[in-house]
Amino acid sequence: MTKLILVAGARPNFMKIAPLMHALKNHPTIQAVLVHTGQHYDVKMSGQFFDELNIPTPDINLEVGSASHAVQTARIMEGFEKVCLDEKPDYVLVVGDVNSTAACTLVASKLGIKTIHYEAGLRSNDRTMPEEINRLVTDAISDVFITTSADADENLLRENIPAEKIHMLGNLMIDSLVEQLTKARQTELNFRLLNRDSYIEFEKDFLAHKYGVLTFHRPGNVDEKESLTKLVTLWGKISTKMPLVFPVHPRTYKNIVHFGLQPLIDTFPNLFFIEPLGYLQFIHLVSSSAFALTDSGGIQEETTYLNIPCLTVRPNTERPVTVWEGSNKLIKLDEMLHEVDLIIEGKAKKGSTPRYWDGKTAMRIVEMIEKL
Ligand code: UD1
Repeated sequence: MTKLILVAGARPNFMKIAPLMHALKNHPTIQAVLVHTGQHYDVKMSGQFFDELNIPTPDINLEVGSASHAVQTARIMEGFEKVCLDEKPDYVLVVGDVNSTAACTLVASKLGIKTIHYEAGLRSNDRTMPEEINRLVTDAISDVFITTSADADENLLRENIPAEKIHMLGNLMIDSLVEQLTKARQTELNFRLLNRDSYIEFEKDFLAHKYGVLTFHRPGNVDEKESLTKLVTLWGKISTKMPLVFPVHPRTYKNIVHFGLQPLIDTFPNLFFIEPLGYLQFIHLVSSSAFALTDSGGIQEETTYLNIPCLTVRPNTERPVTVWEGSNKLIKLDEMLHEVDLIIEGKAKKGSTPRYWDGKTAMRIVEMIEKL
């Protein structure tokens, strides 16, 4: 039996881990052990995703919680070292680019355990993003590199990773999307508005009309009062053209409260802030929308698969295939209004689906691990 520890820590990891756990269920030669670091811990950021994506209860939960980067990373490393010493796995598989990804790779690799990085090779070339540091650290010491697109392979080759260690096998996030889309579209879209005693009766008020979906949580956008105020004002302006629905990330919400921005938000009647959504409702919301306006990574990929126009408000992306092939556009803050006007005029960007984003990636990964 090969013992494989899979690590999940934060929300965007869960839709990547789910299809792998399903493909490894009752596997004759690979024993999967699921470790949740507890980087995300709220029901709405974690528990709900395990339920909806049918991820088994983690075998081990490190319960590290929120803290500064150094403290969070240190707590994960301390907890995960004990896990590795107890479990003695043959391989550790990490996904994505969150603190849990880098921390667990460091621990395993120092204990001489082979590490597999899924979503290797993505580069924004922007070291002000904590995720970019996590990607660089993880890929510098991993043993096996699974990539989602050809540009990632090229980045790794440029960093002198031998070609035989790189496996372009497609996109696990799309596996989850393909598996859950029908069920997602059957969910109800009625939401309680954050900080108000009212509901949006979505089906009645919106579905026949058009709306955009907002998601913003990057520290660079939401952690400073000035940039967050500017963003809220621009979202408000856009919402006068088309209603905007924003399932607010806890980081963003905490800052809205801290900077006293709720009164400004209240001046825009079509700017709807709601609690973070579970996976199914979120996918339903995006798949029925006119566009997404975001600074997230995963949403660039989901909208590409769904062929929904995506406006990514960032100077760079580690997922350029969503721009070259998909429906994603990188835009500046002051281009938001104009870009939304183009979408309203029916001039939205259309795209195609990248290679291997087909719902069968988990199967390909398990076949690859069998051969290691
Ligand atoms: C993390 C990832 C980011 C990913 C994002 C998705 C890193 C460096 N960043 O950022 O790549 O896109 O997750 O959500 O790993 N909080 C809660 N409940 C939770 C989790 C967090 O309230 O369950 C709040 C806490 O106040 C915390 C803040 O959100 O301080 C930020 O959480 P953290 O895990 O540090 O980073 P994210 O911004 O979520």
